[in-house]
Amino acid sequence: MHGMYFEYKGSTDNLVTRLPNRSAPVLRLNAICPYYTMFPLRFPFKVLRRAQKGDWVLDPFCGRGTTNFAARLRGLPSVGIDSNPVAGAIAAAKFVDVTPEEVIDLCNSILRRKKHPEDIPEGEFWEFCYHPSTLFDICKIREYLLENCSTEAEIALRGLILGILHGPKMKNLPTYLSNQMPRTYATKPKSAVRFWKKHDLKPPKVDVADTIARRAKYVFEQLPLPTQGAVYIGDSRLLSPNIAPEPFRWVITSPPYFGMRSYLPDQWLRYWFLGGPSTVTYSLEGQIPHCSEDEFVRGLANVWKRVASVCAPNARLIVRFGAIPSAARDPKTLLKKSLSIASAGWKVATIKNAGLSPRGRRQAGQFGCSLGKAVEEIDLYAVLEE
Ligand SMILES: C[S@@+](CC[C@H](N)C(=O)[O-])C[C@H]1O[C@@H](n2cnc3c(N)ncnc32)[C@H](O)[C@@H]1O
Repeated sequence: MHGMYFEYKGSTDNLVTRLPNRSAPVLRLNAICPYYTMFPLRFPFKVLRRAQKGDWVLDPFCGRGTTNFAARLRGLPSVGIDSNPVAGAIAAAKFVDVTPEEVIDLCNSILRRKKHPEDIPEGEFWEFCYHPSTLFDICKIREYLLENCSTEAEIALRGLILGILHGPKMKNLPTYLSNQMPRTYATKPKSAVRFWKKHDLKPPKVDVADTIARRAKYVFEQLPLPTQGAVYIGDSRLLSPNIAPEPFRWVITSPPYFGMRSYLPDQWLRYWFLGGPSTVTYSLEGQIPHCSEDEFVRGLANVWKRVASVCAPNARLIVRFGAIPSAARDPKTLLKKSLSIASAGWKVATIKNAGLSPRGRRQAGQFGCSLGKAVEEIDLYAVLEE
């Protein structure tokens, strides 16, 4: 498990106590890059209204770091863990305390370097996806960040580029660096090329420095007060005891739904930017196994057990869980079974319906599965017995 630490720098005055409108400048960092199956910010934010000053918050399946961002808004220290490096890089960006100018200056200084990128991917996909000059600049920044990504400006720039690496072409100034593509997931090379050819879509010549500068001014215009915390890329079934200076009092999380295997393959282009191969990766490394219901439940149980070992007595565990239509299982049964197998002291207090959220359905649609009925999500509340 490797991670990035952020020191506490601010005061806890002036915290966000009411969630403003989604596009409010103070919330923009949370939307720096989309991620599948992210839960809405208001969910962890609302849960944490009862937290006390100094309470540590953990999300062992942190995804894009929504729980960590909610904790930051409340002035609470937090840790996020995810085995997907793309999730880890986005979540780490949720902790940064930077100005737009710091990110812009860093980007310009990288682009001014004389050193040519050593590895510019070739082939039909790359020729159609990016204009040669845009790809050249992306590769220059990629290679710099692969060697240096420890300062907050570097972590911020990396998160920002992940968010604009691919997406729809805009009518006026570009927001994204690629040819026409969805922003939430990267299309597989063959079908992307087929689509671009069919619609005669040529890659736009995007000015990387200018696009990053405009985006940095938008995302980092106003940030919440910084808080202490860390993001680890690793398997939560192997979570180590030293991930925070104090035991956690809150665990707010959303495990992968049974059958959701494509976190990395659908983020293959972002994964390439982080040092992965220039082709689709089908790795399931560090993911909860989905081959059978039993293995899945046992995987979750391991996480609940490890998590209990780093929590304070009376810690609260709040889990949002559902199912994808193509592998519909009763989320309540799976979750309760995993907690019971964990036998770690988590006592279930309540299970509430989280409503007929379209989330499961949306996930399935995005992943190319057939759309079924929207699946009911649940919120489970448990307490760690003393
Ligand atoms: C439902 S998503 C979490 C989304 C998150 N709540 C958000 O708002 O972005 C589940 C996450 O669990 C991660 N994951 C799956 N197995 C894992 C494991 N064994 N250890 C750590 N993370 C894991 C996946 O990579 C995925 O990012």
